[in-house]
Amino acid sequence: MATDDQGRWDKKHATEEGHEDASSFLRQLFEVGAWRIQAGSALDVATGRGRNAFFLAERGFRVEAIDISEVALKEASKLAEEKGLTITFRQVDVDHVELSESTYDMILNFNFLQRSLIAKMKKALKRGGHIIFETYLIEQKALGHPKNPAYLLGHNELLELFRDFRILYYREGRFVEGGKDAFRAGLFGQKVG
Ligand SMILES: C[S@@+](CC[C@H](N)C(=O)[O-])C[C@H]1O[C@@H](n2cnc3c(N)ncnc32)[C@H](O)[C@@H]1O
Repeated sequence: MATDDQGRWDKKHATEEGHEDASSFLRQLFEVGAWRIQAGSALDVATGRGRNAFFLAERGFRVEAIDISEVALKEASKLAEEKGLTITFRQVDVDHVELSESTYDMILNFNFLQRSLIAKMKKALKRGGHIIFETYLIEQKALGHPKNPAYLLGHNELLELFRDFRILYYREGRFVEGGKDAFRAGLFGQKVG
C-alpha cells in the first residue's frame, strides 16, 4: 500500500467536516429520464466519504466502494449506517488493485484520476454496463487544486480514453460544484464490446 498517499488522504479527510451532496453531474444524468438507468451492481472508485455511493445505494444499487483512506471509509460507513444503507466499503490502494472481470453494471469515478486503472475498470464492467467519470481538466491548476498535471485531464483526453465505449454524454468546461467553480470533464458511457 502507498502509505504516504494513505497518510496524506487520512489527514485531509480528518480535517473535513460535514457531508457533501452527491455530484451534480451524477444527479443530472439520473434526472434525464431518456436513459432509464437501471439499478444493479456498482463500484465507486476512490469513494472518499461516500457521497456518490450513497446516491446509488438509495436508488437500489448494490454498491461496493473503495478508497485508500481508512479515515474516509470509517466516516462513510458511519453515515451509511445512519442512513440505513448497506454498502460494502473496502480499503484498497487502486495502484495495486485487481478487479474481477464482467462484474459491475455501473462504475463511478469522481474527482480522481489514475490512468492505469481505466483498462481494469473497462474489464470489470459487464457488457452493457455504464461508466460515469468526472474529474478535473488541465486548466484547473490555475484555479485551485489539484495542481499536479499528472492528476489533470487534457482536452478530449477522457473522450479518447473511452473511444471503445458508446458515449452517451460528454462535456468539458468550467462548472459549479458545491458552490465552487472548477474546470472538469465528464463522461457517461456504455460498454458495448
Ligand atoms: C478528491 S477525493 C474524491 C472522493 C469522491 N470520489 C468524491 O468525489 O467525493 C479523492 C479520493 O481518492 C482517494 N485516493 C487517493 N489515492 C488513492 C489510491 N491510490 N487508492 C485508492 N484511493 C485513493 C482519497 O483517499 C480520496 O478519498
